[in-house]
Amino acid sequence: MDMIPGKIGVFDSGYGGLTILKDLRSRLPQYDYLYLGDNARAPYGNRSFDLIYRFTLEAVEELFARGCNLIILACNTASAKALRTIQMRDLPRIDPRKRVLGVIRPTAEISGQLTRNGHIGVLATRGTIDSGSYDIEIAKLYPDTTVTGQACPMWVYLIEQNEGLGPGADYFVRKYIDELKKKDPLIDTIILGCTHYPILAPKIRNYVDEQVRIVGQGDIVADSLADYLRRHPEMERACSHGASVSFLTTENPVRFSELASIFMGAHVEAEGITLQPTHSL
Ligand code: DGL
Repeated sequence: MDMIPGKIGVFDSGYGGLTILKDLRSRLPQYDYLYLGDNARAPYGNRSFDLIYRFTLEAVEELFARGCNLIILACNTASAKALRTIQMRDLPRIDPRKRVLGVIRPTAEISGQLTRNGHIGVLATRGTIDSGSYDIEIAKLYPDTTVTGQACPMWVYLIEQNEGLGPGADYFVRKYIDELKKKDPLIDTIILGCTHYPILAPKIRNYVDEQVRIVGQGDIVADSLADYLRRHPEMERACSHGASVSFLTTENPVRFSELASIFMGAHVEAEGITLQPTHSL
C-alpha cells in the first residue's frame, strides 16, 4: 500500500546537518524538507552509545509523527551509533515501509576514488572515530587504502556557540590537524566526517597542505539520495513535491533562526519543540 507523501526528514544534533540540507535542496529542489536540530542536547559526539541511540530514536519518531516517510541522519555520530539498530530493530516495529538513511556509507563509497596515493584521513567526533565505522566501510570497498582517524572533540562546541570562525577557534583547529598529520604524513585526502565541520573549512584549509583534498559530505549525500530515489520509485512517490523547507529545534528558535539563516544564506524561521522520551526501549 502506498504511503501518504511526506516531507523528507533531515536530522542532526544541531546546526551541522544544515551543510547537508543545503546541498540536498540544490540537487533535489522539488521535495519538501523538514529539518530537526537537537541543539538543546548537542554535541552528541562525546556521549555514550545508549544516549546517542535514544536521542536519535526520539528524533526519528518525532519526524515520523510529523508525516516523514524518509529520514536522512545528516549526522555521522548518529549514523555510526544509532542507524543500524534503528534500521534493524525499530523500523520493522514502527512502520516497515519507512526508511532511515545515514551519511557514512555514501561517503565511504566515494572516498577511495578521491585519494591518489591511498592515504585517507578522517576528522570526526570521538563517537564516530571510536566506532571505527569509516575504517570498516572503506576497508570493505578499498582494502588497499590506509585510513587514519582523528577525533576533534572541541569543534562542535565551537560551532554550536557560533565561534567556529572566531579567532579563538584556530588553536583547536590546528591542534587536531597537526595530530592527524603526525599519525600519517602521507595523507592526501581528508574526509570531514562530521556534518558540522564544513563550517570550519576556511580555517582547516589554513593548516593543511595545498595539494591535500578536503572532502565535505553535502554533495556526496545529495548524489546518493538522488540515486536512491531513482532506484526506489515507491519511496520517491512517498516524498511530497512542494519545494519547501521548514525547521525544528529543541533549543531557542530565535537563536536557531539567526544562526541557521547565516549557514543557509537565506532567511530561516524555526519552531521550538521538545522531543518526547521514547516508549519503545
Ligand atoms: N554533526 C554531527 C556529526 O556529523 C554531530 C556532531 C555532534 O553532535 O557531536 O557527527
